[in-house]
Amino acid sequence: MNITYYGHSCFGVEVNGKHLLFDPFITPNELAKDIDATAVKADYILISHGHEDHVADAVSIAKRTGAQVICTWEIHVWLNKQGITNTHPMNIGGKSKFDFGNVKCVVAVHSSSLPDGSNGGNPMGFIIESTQGNFYFAGDTALTYDMKLIGNYRNVNFAFLPIGDTFTMGIDNAIIAAEFINCRTIIGMHYDTFGPITIDKKEAVKKFDRAGNELLLFNVGETKTFKVTEGAMVNG
Ligand code: NI
Ligand code: MN
Repeated sequence: MNITYYGHSCFGVEVNGKHLLFDPFITPNELAKDIDATAVKADYILISHGHEDHVADAVSIAKRTGAQVICTWEIHVWLNKQGITNTHPMNIGGKSKFDFGNVKCVVAVHSSSLPDGSNGGNPMGFIIESTQGNFYFAGDTALTYDMKLIGNYRNVNFAFLPIGDTFTMGIDNAIIAAEFINCRTIIGMHYDTFGPITIDKKEAVKKFDRAGNELLLFNVGETKTFKVTEGAMVNG
């Protein structure tokens, strides 16, 4: 699996030849000024919640690529109004099958209003399960005991967790989240983009290391390849 970081919480993940794009927020992000949003690939766009810093480029990229957008019912309605009709609405607890693998929607403890002030539904996280490996994209969330359900009943090879604090959990809670979800490889997101979520990256990596986990922080524009050799499977 190739994973590319487009800044903030926006990642592209290639799964079984399909390009999944999470929480597109590129053009307003000063840290992503070298990313050309008009060249970002997407077969699917997954939106965790309605906040501007997760949807800013969703409509333009969906229009250009024709990607199917996986999101809440409320975000699907908002997209439909803007002419994006290739949508796959879901809600927490639901699982759907796609050609790359399965998507399961899980709880995120946060809020979700859309840029026009309309209700984005409940925020969600996603668990992607495929023959190439399984991962959890937490979206914006606090640490929540619900994460134990992921650790107990699913097999996550790596996870994207917010670590910037102020609007989501910070480093210390993300370390507990890694324990709850029973996953040692964590990719950090939702940090440094704005003043209130600036972190000490070296200290963050050290703290994870001391807890026996690995925190990976990508440079904006960087691609890393993940090969999952064990545990790649589709749960029921
Ligand atoms: Ni948010
Ligand atoms: Mn956010």
